[in-house]
Formats: sequence, structure tokens, C-alpha cells
Amino acid sequence: CHSWKFCPGTLSICTGDITRSRADAIVNAANSQLAGGGGVDGAIHHAAGAEALHAACKDIIRERGKLPAGQAVLTPGFALSAKYIIHTVGPVWHGGTQNEDALLASAYWESALIAGQIGCQSVDFPAISCGVYHFPVEHAAEIALKTLKKSLDQGLVKSACMVIFSRDKMNIWLRAGETLFES
Ligand code: APR
Repeated sequence: CHSWKFCPGTLSICTGDITRSRADAIVNAANSQLAGGGGVDGAIHHAAGAEALHAACKDIIRERGKLPAGQAVLTPGFALSAKYIIHTVGPVWHGGTQNEDALLASAYWESALIAGQIGCQSVDFPAISCGVYHFPVEHAAEIALKTLKKSLDQGLVKSACMVIFSRDKMNIWLRAGETLFES
């Protein structure tokens, strides 16, 4: 793990599997139907207990309709060590022409906001939109880290960690952090 300590908090980048997180809450890169999927979404549903999580997601959709990109909702963590799962929907990358940057920033921000509202000290994030939604990783890393820094500065949470699943993407994330916070 690599961490940066800021006045009110800590921002880290680690390799790993977010389903094994020991943070108070983890964020899921979900879809608008909260229907589960592949990637990190599939892994979280599997590890939390697919049946219980699916039922909780269905209740949310019934109550409020589909979740647009950039927004976030909360469920329990069920069988996970994390008490909560914050489900957010990242934007699908369309070449940068459809407000993707703002939507990605919003997905991080709204998730951190919910974590703060429910009193979480620590929250772990996957690389939202960097898988099947094809957001360019260098660009996503800059947006993610800037937005998480802002959420720490504003005291929403004490500790935010990017959990990077593929080791070969780790350098991109570390370089983005160094550029933003060490130069
Ligand atoms: N822990 C942490 N990160 C993971 C894990 C895991 N266990 N498994 C996969 N990842 C990483 C991938 O390597 C990728 O960098 O999560 C990142 C996000 O990839 P996706 O899961 O494909 O998410 P996204 O691009 O936001 O696409 C969302 O995928 O699974 C569907 O239902 C989901 O439709 C939604 C879409």
C-alpha cells in the first residue's frame, strides 16, 4: 500500500480484492438496475451472499427506480467484513463526450458522502468504470484521487483507499498519486 497523509485524513492506494476489505464500508461499481454483474460487482454479490444482497437491491429499485450514473445507494454488507456496501454507478466511457468526467467524480463524491453520513471512518473503493465501462485508467485515476482528496479535506471520512485488483494497473495509480500529491 502507498498512503498519503493529509491534515484531516489518509488516502491510500493498495493492490487487493475489495471483498476482503476490513474497512467500515466498501463501494461497489454497480449498474443502474443494481442487478449484479461480472467484475467487482459479481465478486461483491458472491462474497456478501448473493440472495440477501439481491433482495436488498431489488427493494431499492422498487422504491426509487433505476440508479442513474453518478449516484449512490446503501445496503448492509451481509456476509462481508465491511458493515456496509455503497453501490454507485460509474459512467460508460463514450470518448469523453457525454459528461463522463463529472459523472465519475460524482460517483466517488456521492459514495464518500453516504459513508460520512452513516458514520464510517474508512471506506474502500474499486476503480469505478475502469473495467467493462472502459474509462481510460490514467484519466480515471486523476479524477478519483482528486475527488477523494476533496472528500478527506471536507472531513466526510477519515480514510479512503483505492483497492486496485490488477497489479499491472498499480503503477498508473501510483504515478497519478505522485503527480497530484508529491509535485
Ligand atoms: N476487488 C477490487 N477490484 C476489482 C475486483 C475485486 N474483487 N474485481 C474486479 N475489480 C476491478 C477491475 O479490475 C476493474 O479495474 O474493478 C474495476 C472495475 O471494473 P468492472 O467491475 O468491470 O466495473 P465497471 O467498469 O464500473 O463496469 C460496471 O460491470 O459488473 C458489471 O454490473 C456491473 O454493469 C456493471 C459494470
